[in-house]
Amino acid sequence: MNKAIDPALMQAAEATAAKPGVRMDAYWMPFTANRQFKKAPRLLTRASGMHYWDDRGRQILDGIAGLWCVNAGHGRPRIVQAMQQQAAELDFAPPFQMAHPKAFELAERVVQIAPPGMTKVFFANSGSEAVDTALKMALAYHRVRGEGTRTRLIGRERGYHGVNFGGISVGGMVANRKTFATGLPGVDHIRHTHDPARNAFSVGQPAHGADIADDLERLVALHDASNIAAVIVEPVAGSTGVLVPPAGYLQRLREICTRHGILLIFDEVITGFGRTGQPFAAQTFGVVPDMITCAKGITNGSAPMGAVLVRQEIHDAFMTGPEHLIEFFHGYTYSAHPIACAAGLGTLDTYAEEGLLTRAGELEAYFGAAVHSLAGEPNVIDIRNIGLVGGIELAPLAGEPTKRAFGIFLDLWEKGLLVRTTGDTVALSPPLIIERGQIDQIVDLLRGAIRRAA
Ligand SMILES: Cc1ncc(COP(=O)(O)O)c(C=O)c1O
Repeated sequence: MNKAIDPALMQAAEATAAKPGVRMDAYWMPFTANRQFKKAPRLLTRASGMHYWDDRGRQILDGIAGLWCVNAGHGRPRIVQAMQQQAAELDFAPPFQMAHPKAFELAERVVQIAPPGMTKVFFANSGSEAVDTALKMALAYHRVRGEGTRTRLIGRERGYHGVNFGGISVGGMVANRKTFATGLPGVDHIRHTHDPARNAFSVGQPAHGADIADDLERLVALHDASNIAAVIVEPVAGSTGVLVPPAGYLQRLREICTRHGILLIFDEVITGFGRTGQPFAAQTFGVVPDMITCAKGITNGSAPMGAVLVRQEIHDAFMTGPEHLIEFFHGYTYSAHPIACAAGLGTLDTYAEEGLLTRAGELEAYFGAAVHSLAGEPNVIDIRNIGLVGGIELAPLAGEPTKRAFGIFLDLWEKGLLVRTTGDTVALSPPLIIERGQIDQIVDLLRGAIRRAA
């Protein structure tokens, strides 16, 4: 049995779990405690709006938009129809030296909601691929401009940028790095911004820590700016426990990058498409980076897709040399896949029709107050929020980090609420269609589970 799981909870889960009519041996599940899961499977079989249903017919309230991606809620008709129609009309079109109309249409639509100056879109199939694409683009950009010494990539401690070699190299999650040798060479990291001593229980952006951005100056002094290509950060770090940027921090990072000719990449795989109250967190925080990586919400989770949004000048730097030559040697067989593009267009229509890209801002105060009402519950040591994202951090059980939060996850699953845990933080990121009553329901269920875990 996985040591991180409470035996009592495990037994309860095993006792109630339906034994599904599918063989479970062959599928090696990603980011999952496989043996624990297969003893007490949690199988989702249907979804609509704010809810999933499991194979026992139970309704589960979705507290995390699937996995930070189903921003418009589940089973939205425009998206479903767009995908069905596309599959029947044009299943696949090669994306190299060929294209189909919806690729251009979707890129135009994404640019319309992007921060000013970000006028080009390169498609990938996931957040991890978007990140690797952006890192390669940064290296290639400096090279085509004759600054080929700019090869170093800077990430941040506690950053998560997916699982490909580029992403884990610039990422700062030890568990994702330690098994995989050295990763990319020439990578360094700035300090993370988490400072509970000064900022615990901040509502929205913490007041202290803009100066942590100056850590980039330390790396510039060490490596010299002429060797640094890009800095990549999540505006709000999600996977390491919902870390909201201190007021002024991203502005300062932007200033330092600009001063030294370093490209600033915002990884908006979870913050893109309305999560923080604007289409992108860059707009919420009023800081325009040079590139934005996104995925998840671009298709409402309904088809795999990632994208890199790029400033016009970066794109234009590549557009030199003979016109018959490929300018950027990069791309995927499924870049701008027709069904993903159709899903993306249906998604953006749904967001626009229902005002979803700004709804997190409208609900932020209510959601924040609800989440912060958990302060004072047993073992709650910090609460963080922005837009429709909440992080409730619990004191770890002595010598057994992650066990308390994972127990809460299992308990809530039994009670009909899906949350996500990272370390000992419970993360909330519900679909943007959530109603106030459902926010109350989530917080009430969570309160009960936190008390039971005490
Ligand atoms: C900030 C960030 N970047 C990249 C990724 C990786 O995305 P994917 O799992 O689609 O490869 C994630 C996934 O959660 C993420 O949160």
